[in-house]
Amino acid sequence: MRVDAYDKVAGKALYGADRVRPGMAFAALALAKVGRGRLSSVDTSAALAVPGVLLVETRFDGELAGPGFVMAGGFGFQSLQPMTGDHIAYRGQPIAIVVAETPVAATEAAEAITAEYEPEPFALHLDSEGATTLVQEEAIPLPFLADIKVGDPDAVIAGSPVQIDNVYEHPPQHAVPMELNGGVVEWQGDTLIVHEGTQNANAVRYGLAQQLGIDAGNIEVRSPYLGGGFGQKNSLLLHLGPMAVLSRRLGRPVKLVLARPQTFQNGSFRPASKHRIRLGADESGRILAAIHEVDQQTSRHDLFPAMHTEVTGRLYGFSAFRGRQRLVQTDVQTPGYMRAPFESPSMFAFEQAVDELALAVGRDPVELRLANDTDTDPITGLPFSSRHVGDCLRRGAELFGWSGRNPEPRSMRAEDGSLVGWGVAIGNYPGNVAAAMATLTADADGRVTVSVDGHEMGQGIRSSIALHVAQDLGIPATDVVVQVGDTTVGTQHLTAGSWGTATALPAVHSGLRELRKLLNVADTGDVDVAAAVAIAGHPVRVTVDSLGPGQSRDVLAQLRSGHLAIAGPVFPGFVTFSWIAHFVEVRVELGTCRIRVPRVVSVADCGRVASPVTATSQVRGGVIWGIGAALREETLTDDRFGFLNTTLEEYPVMVNADVHRIDVDFIDKPDYQFNPVGVKGLGEVSMVGAAAAVANAVHHATGRRHHRLPIRLEHVL
Ligand code: MOS
Repeated sequence: MRVDAYDKVAGKALYGADRVRPGMAFAALALAKVGRGRLSSVDTSAALAVPGVLLVETRFDGELAGPGFVMAGGFGFQSLQPMTGDHIAYRGQPIAIVVAETPVAATEAAEAITAEYEPEPFALHLDSEGATTLVQEEAIPLPFLADIKVGDPDAVIAGSPVQIDNVYEHPPQHAVPMELNGGVVEWQGDTLIVHEGTQNANAVRYGLAQQLGIDAGNIEVRSPYLGGGFGQKNSLLLHLGPMAVLSRRLGRPVKLVLARPQTFQNGSFRPASKHRIRLGADESGRILAAIHEVDQQTSRHDLFPAMHTEVTGRLYGFSAFRGRQRLVQTDVQTPGYMRAPFESPSMFAFEQAVDELALAVGRDPVELRLANDTDTDPITGLPFSSRHVGDCLRRGAELFGWSGRNPEPRSMRAEDGSLVGWGVAIGNYPGNVAAAMATLTADADGRVTVSVDGHEMGQGIRSSIALHVAQDLGIPATDVVVQVGDTTVGTQHLTAGSWGTATALPAVHSGLRELRKLLNVADTGDVDVAAAVAIAGHPVRVTVDSLGPGQSRDVLAQLRSGHLAIAGPVFPGFVTFSWIAHFVEVRVELGTCRIRVPRVVSVADCGRVASPVTATSQVRGGVIWGIGAALREETLTDDRFGFLNTTLEEYPVMVNADVHRIDVDFIDKPDYQFNPVGVKGLGEVSMVGAAAAVANAVHHATGRRHHRLPIRLEHVL
């Protein structure tokens, strides 16, 4: 079940920008039209003449401090706060903000703003002139971002009878969540209230406190629902600071919703990346060593760290591995996390290379992957707390009917003559966990209210929490009230990295143990909550802290100051990853070369399945993203301008008409080493490897290999 389903379909679930406040005014942004340069002047006279315009502002110097970059100890998706200087770092950087009585007037006025620039040359691509390449471990000397070196992979590969050496290219992509970036801010006395869909209410709160120079205690952030986060809403966005200043100046609530094209520049995106994969194997296809070298795009003003080799280094039982990551500075806004941010591109590369190896040694790709399975992490030598990827492959093969596959490429045909291709790939995703606080209150009416770190972005965290409490106490899930994404009910650490369930549920679980003690009931079994509260004579409330394995209590201070408080995937005695296997059928029409995906089978190992309905939906969503990455999605860049296809017409994402049968199954074996609830992450692993499986299926159908995404019909022709 999905506990908020009724509220959502009835339109009762209020998203950030759905809030209507008395006296609310409307803001709109005007954006820079050069790729880089100095802003010489901004002409706002035409904007000010638009009826209904209340004010136009172009500079917040002295009024707004920088938010800091979230991956460098700050709170913002990038360190650069627009409208606090005359430097234009990228096309689409805001140069002015208008506030008006209506959204139409604000938009009209923003469009009437003109500016003069002293343009400078800019670089947009990994291989553009002027792009600067940095070795990540030198540029950001943090242990978890260093190159990975195990054994001597160059020597092992050089001595291997079978060698694979290919370069794979992944384009930039934008998350385009259905809910546009934006929200409503209002001041009540000295208190700033922010209504905005965010995955990180803590960062919005503490980041705005830093930007405005006020106490975080005077800021409340409310984000009960997001219409999709996917990483683009995982930190403080740059419209909120200016909105807060102008709202205070006007003494009115202000609402701003970015237009879709503006979200392509004022929010993070998945950066371009290029992957060289080298494999050395014996004649049976046993992989002896692998090298994965990555170049990833970042901005000029921030280093968005690349973490691609963390997953590929764990995929198979090779004895030697090297992962090297470089960052390429280009003139864009700072890129960031977009669902399976590194894992999906890196698996597209690595799992195609493994398919090419299977072909080279003449071995079935499922068998070859099973033969390379391992229980020990090749990088640390530690055991995996759980790794059921072999079961995922076996069950997936059976459900898909893989034994009916003719291994010969271009050998299978559909009734209408279309080429049929069957492809497989596996994927993994780090088992991360964050520190969390949970407050549970049992009331006289038998209801239990749970407040915990988490954000509901459609993935179903509210349902997972409600189900867990309901099952533990033996009460209906409708008697559980879940409060997440709201800084007035507790800390609200970033929900991302697929750690939501594995972070919130252990906290709630330990809260339930304490609550049962205070209610004076047994540690397990059904509870008559109303009766126990009646005996206590008052509502019973507990607050607990929860830490990941090996995490020290020091991280609670980070949690309470709005900073990241994450551990994993390497813990003191083990290493945790989630796993998945995807089986994909493609059909390629002979005349048009149009590629269709009629069916997919995906089997995931996410530990215990906390909420079957929403988990299945998560995997379907991830697979759909993988198909989109393989066949459709690419943010195009024009060297004269910048991002080009900034609408949903021109940036095609998968829609219902594209999606056919996706069967989802789970191994559903709890991982009690990772946490007492046995859950691992699911949201992102569901996508990892899906694009590779499509690409492998296209090769099987056509006999042609594509090392660059997306694979469009013109590539297959
Ligand atoms: Mo997610 S891409 O870690 O917000």
